Amino acid sequence: MDTRLMTETARAMVATGKGLLAADESAGTCKKRFDSVNVECTEENRRAYREMLFTTPGLADFVSGVILFDETLRQKTKDGTGFAEYLKKNGILPGIKVDAGTQDMALHPGEKVTEGLDKLAARMGEYFKLGARFAKWRAVITIGAGIPSAACIKANAHALARYSAICQEASIVPIVEPEVLLDGDHTAERSESVHQDVLETLFHELERQGVSLEHVILKASMVVSGKDNPRQAPVQEVAERTLRVLRRTVPAALPGLVFLSGGQTDEHATAHLDAMNRAGAAPWPLTFSYSRALQAVALKAWRGSSANMAAAQKALHHRARMNSLAARGQWKPEAEKQSVAA
Ligand code: 13P
Repeated sequence: MDTRLMTETARAMVATGKGLLAADESAGTCKKRFDSVNVECTEENRRAYREMLFTTPGLADFVSGVILFDETLRQKTKDGTGFAEYLKKNGILPGIKVDAGTQDMALHPGEKVTEGLDKLAARMGEYFKLGARFAKWRAVITIGAGIPSAACIKANAHALARYSAICQEASIVPIVEPEVLLDGDHTAERSESVHQDVLETLFHELERQGVSLEHVILKASMVVSGKDNPRQAPVQEVAERTLRVLRRTVPAALPGLVFLSGGQTDEHATAHLDAMNRAGAAPWPLTFSYSRALQAVALKAWRGSSANMAAAQKALHHRARMNSLAARGQWKPEAEKQSVAA
């Protein structure tokens, strides 16, 4: 276990003004995204799409790391450079999603548990050799009538903690992602109380498993209203609730926090991050680890054609720059218009 390497990795992941590009969609999720722009989800199209993303000029100014899927970690650019090597050469850390996705939780209708611990230690050793320096495991918590249950919160936290221990033994920094979904009609207040339970349980389990908190990055959801609730909490309220629950539950020992976008609009994901950073005085750097809120515009511009590559890269560059500003608390809505014209 190389703690110095993990210290360096974690520090680089949350370097000032930088965040992560989540590009770790499984083939199934990729198909859903590609279907929306009528692109066939072949292995070559997935490769070409990821090459478009990763070769965006100037990406490393805003992006410290990219989360890859197993298939992507093994793929190469057109000229034969492995993606992990290409990213590393360009100053971007390669990371890897290692969970095997969610399954319905037995005896708990409407709830999910994440699988993938079997043989994970052996896979982790291989991922390190392939160049991955951080990993991600996503748990999903659904808010509804009578859920989440304590059993679901605990089972997912336990798996996240066991995964983290395995990562650290392989000198890989674990990202722990307990995503509280925004699906449903719940209030932001209820979301805040669910976040409190989920995060308290997670850090209890991490400590119990002996995980070094100095070498863990939390990937958190934001405390927003359920998407079917007619009252949508405004930006300032989301920022206040999210910061409050994080301050109450996340140890200051953590090197940094990143957020998922979770289905928020691109601009909300940016505005919420910006508002939290403007509030200042959080004990950790707060930055982004977005998939949809970085990629959606680029995918729409690309639509499977290499002729659209420059436009798609420009779209990704723009969102990455906006979120970099937000990570510094320096984003303004006007910046959106300026950059599109630029
Ligand atoms: P979104 O930003 O689209 O929520 O994706 C982030 C992610 O990594 C989900 O696991």
